[in-house]
Amino acid sequence: MPYGLLKGKKGIITGALDENSIAWKVAMRAYEEGAEIVLTNAPIAMRMGKINELATICNTIVVPADATVVEDIEKLYRTTMERFGGKFDFLLHSIGMSPNIRKEKPYYDLNYDWFVKTLDVSALSFHKMLQTAYKMDAINEYGSVVALSYIAAQRVFPDYTDMAEAKAMLESIARSFGYHYGKFRKVRVNTVSQSPTVTTAGKGISGFEAFMKYAETMSPLGNATADECADYCITLFSDLTRKVTMQNLYHDGGFSSTGIAQEIVDSLSK
Ligand SMILES: NC(=O)c1ccc[n+]([C@@H]2O[C@H](COP(=O)([O-])OP(=O)(O)OC[C@H]3O[C@@H](n4cnc5c(N)ncnc54)[C@H](O)[C@@H]3O)[C@@H](O)[C@H]2O)c1
Repeated sequence: MPYGLLKGKKGIITGALDENSIAWKVAMRAYEEGAEIVLTNAPIAMRMGKINELATICNTIVVPADATVVEDIEKLYRTTMERFGGKFDFLLHSIGMSPNIRKEKPYYDLNYDWFVKTLDVSALSFHKMLQTAYKMDAINEYGSVVALSYIAAQRVFPDYTDMAEAKAMLESIARSFGYHYGKFRKVRVNTVSQSPTVTTAGKGISGFEAFMKYAETMSPLGNATADECADYCITLFSDLTRKVTMQNLYHDGGFSSTGIAQEIVDSLSK
């Protein structure tokens, strides 16, 4: 049920590839809650994915932009501000990719050129999006920027390889930029650390189904779905969370605070 939480707000959603993408769900919920949005994704994703379908549903445009290229981000913000007739209020960074994971390289045999690419796409792009917005003064006071993270930033998940470093950097950028953006223009910057979720990026991790089952067992409330993640992001874009900033917020059904689940004790006791 819509609450009108984003009535009058305007924002940019990155990373919607297909209907499984977390960003797809966030875009749908933001639109339902009364926001006007602009969609963006890497030029190659425009050919592979279904983002134009989403644009039709949300009555908006898609601006192709490679999030590692500052000129593309500048163009994205200029086009967005032209469309909205001014600044915007929220931004979702929902971007991740590791060539090492794609090529199934283990952590102890990483290709360093690919490692740099992982960091550029999955973490540095967040800094580039923030710094470009800061310089262009593109976000309204009490605006909200959210990036999606994963608990591999704090704990070891062997097959997550160099994405763990990317997520640690992403969360650090949220804290550091959150300080400066908070001082400069009262803009909030947070990361949401989401449960494993079945999406194109998620399925790329080997052993992903076992991952999902383990996390489900270890989370008293069960894994958080992409739709539930979208709900949480909407609260963070809304005026109800105006003093929440520089945080990594777990949205994981309790996984991050659970040492061991009773089911696992029982199965190991057999
Ligand atoms: N799926 C999970 O289990 C899970 C869990 C926690 C966090 N996350 C994070 O959620 C975010 C969204 O991932 P998802 O699971 O919805 O998968 P997804 O594959 O649907 O989304 C990833 C998006 O990143 C985009 N992208 C890749 N390179 C880009 C570039 N250079 N410029 C612009 N966009 C680019 C892709 O086109 C794609 O739309 C990622 O940051 C991911 O790490 C996912």
